Amino acid sequence: MTTTPPALQHRHQWRGVIEEYRSLLEIPAGTPAITLREGGTPLVHSEWLSGLTRAEVWLKVEGDNPTGSFKDRGMTAAISVAKHAGAQAVVCASTGNTSASMAAYAAKAGLKPLVLVPEGKIAAGKMAQAILHGAQVIMVRGNFDDCLMLAKGLAWEYPVALVNSVNPVRLEGQKTAAFEIVDFLGDAPDYHLLPVGNAGNISAYWLGFSQYAQLGLATKTPIMRGFQAEGAAPLVTGEPFPDPETRATAIRIGNPASWKLAEAARNESGGSFQSVTDDQILSAQRDLAAHDGVFVEPASAAGIAGLLQELAGGESYAGSTVVVTVTGHGLKDTATALEGFASSGQSLVDTVIDADVTAAAVAAGLA
Ligand code: F0G
Repeated sequence: MTTTPPALQHRHQWRGVIEEYRSLLEIPAGTPAITLREGGTPLVHSEWLSGLTRAEVWLKVEGDNPTGSFKDRGMTAAISVAKHAGAQAVVCASTGNTSASMAAYAAKAGLKPLVLVPEGKIAAGKMAQAILHGAQVIMVRGNFDDCLMLAKGLAWEYPVALVNSVNPVRLEGQKTAAFEIVDFLGDAPDYHLLPVGNAGNISAYWLGFSQYAQLGLATKTPIMRGFQAEGAAPLVTGEPFPDPETRATAIRIGNPASWKLAEAARNESGGSFQSVTDDQILSAQRDLAAHDGVFVEPASAAGIAGLLQELAGGESYAGSTVVVTVTGHGLKDTATALEGFASSGQSLVDTVIDADVTAAAVAAGLA
């Protein structure tokens, strides 16, 4: 028998969200976890936003998940359950991150991933992930909402398991992010802000916060504020967007599947849905990267843009605890990030010198 060295005994290797929270998740007993050790993501304190708001503002950095977005939390659950139930193939519609995550977990599980995406509207990093993990990628002349309709139709008529967030097991996995926030802070925050697209994530967070409060693990639930892109803001206007459009392609969705659950989260928490423009989103993305060292993809900055918009409009967060979830990694979509940077009037790296210290010093403005 090997013994653990004393100095290592207290260290805990994060096991992934199913094993960390299994007793709190509604998944069939005995389902083996197919995991890439997702979750356990950092809550990073933002001095920048805390200073602006005179609140304690924390960033839940979901880009630190194995495939670079929060989707891995729900995907470990959905793929584990599908595999245990005997599925051979899995399907999803996606704006990019769900497909990247599904493909990775399907590869780990030995399942065949089938992905439906809107043609020409997927960030290059996400597409590369799905392809390299072995997905069959089908591009659809249409938007995400059309892709979801097709994915549901395929799962209904053919032997493929649907793992979009209309599958309730996805929300079971995703709600663990709320558990982690409360575990870290010692209680629920006063406010929770996040981007909203298909509305699974806000619904899952609300499930998680509510469950912790019911169990007495939190004394309260947060006010939930969801932010959508102006060109794809059905929850703000109350009407589907037939032709959603935004440069934050991850949330380019006109008819969210979890519409009703998201409205319940807003109503029960005393929260709201608001929209922000693409310029606000891209500017928030740059500011977050420059101030806090956290590089997120455009859609992920919608919550930051929303907080800044509210402050500009006179809203006060002073004295409260605020969590802003940033949902995906900036490296997923460097093209849009750099376009945003260039269009803000700043110059990209354009200084080229010979390998000479004096030349470097001159170029750097040091000499
Ligand atoms: N942020 C990112 C980075 C996303 O990829 C998504 C959704 C959201 C926010 C919105 O979350 O849909 O639960 O309200 N992406 C899905 C996808 C639609 O296919 O990757 P939501």
